[in-house]
Amino acid sequence: MDETVRGVGSGVEPVVPDGTTSAGNGEHAVDAPLGGGGTGTSRPEALAVGIDVGGTGVKAAIVDLSTGALASPRIREKTPSPSTPEAVADAIAHILEHIESTGHDTRGLTAGAGLPGVVKDGWLKTAANIDKSWLASRAEDILEQRLSRPVLIINDADAAGLAEMRYGAGVGHRGVVLMLTIGTGIGSALFVDGKLVPNTELGHLEFHRRDAETLVSGTARERRKLGWKAWAKEFDAYLDRVYRYFSPDLMILGGGVSKETKRYIQYLTPRGPLEVARLLNAAGIVGAALAAAEARGFRPPESAGVREIVAAG
Ligand code: BGC
Repeated sequence: MDETVRGVGSGVEPVVPDGTTSAGNGEHAVDAPLGGGGTGTSRPEALAVGIDVGGTGVKAAIVDLSTGALASPRIREKTPSPSTPEAVADAIAHILEHIESTGHDTRGLTAGAGLPGVVKDGWLKTAANIDKSWLASRAEDILEQRLSRPVLIINDADAAGLAEMRYGAGVGHRGVVLMLTIGTGIGSALFVDGKLVPNTELGHLEFHRRDAETLVSGTARERRKLGWKAWAKEFDAYLDRVYRYFSPDLMILGGGVSKETKRYIQYLTPRGPLEVARLLNAAGIVGAALAAAEARGFRPPESAGVREIVAAG
């Protein structure tokens, strides 16, 4: 393994608290809270709701922005089909009710929602892995109305990247940092000296004459019935392309496949430093909450870093 890859997975180890349940069909799945953040403990100063709308699951939790840890159970529902704005907004509303039912008050908390597409001025502008009807109305307005609170929307990979830069693998890294999220699609988040260049959409690079994510996303691996080694070899060629275009000082791999690192990391031949996301796929929730709070003036402490992480399913 390359010297630069050796640091992968180092640092914080994922913690799966007792009582964690996995997602069932249409069932709510609940991950236990972090850091003793249950009912009755003192409320941290800076809380916001983070929502991650993916092609497969909709997830949300309250986030303690002083540390980046989850301050409530993380609740997940399957993404409704069709994934219209109304159906997804209903799913988020159910999830928030569920969080409330565990004794965590979300009233008055601002919310951030990561969505799988280009986001501009509260509108979703592209919809590769979500129902196209999202493009017809202002997504932020729909969510604000249904959830009765201020909502900021952001690209899901940009949200995950913000979380990793603030609390995870990207902490302290200047220069060019590029995060890729590999799940239903492939998302990207580009940072220059810590500042996000939004909506980079590198999952849609042309690769072998195809849209890259249709060949090398996590879902594509399953659809194509590729083993980890065969998938990793193709993904490595895609990764090499991305390195050539951007020469990142650090590359961070996240999304659903960041849980499976051990199965494929040995087949990658990165041209530069590579780290696996520390927040695993809770990053989308944490980053969406952070973006929403920052838009309302919140500034987390410089040294913020996650002390415990939930292994998000
Ligand atoms: C979308 C991106 C998104 C990525 C991961 C892609 O299909 O175009 O906006 O970040 O999937 O969800």
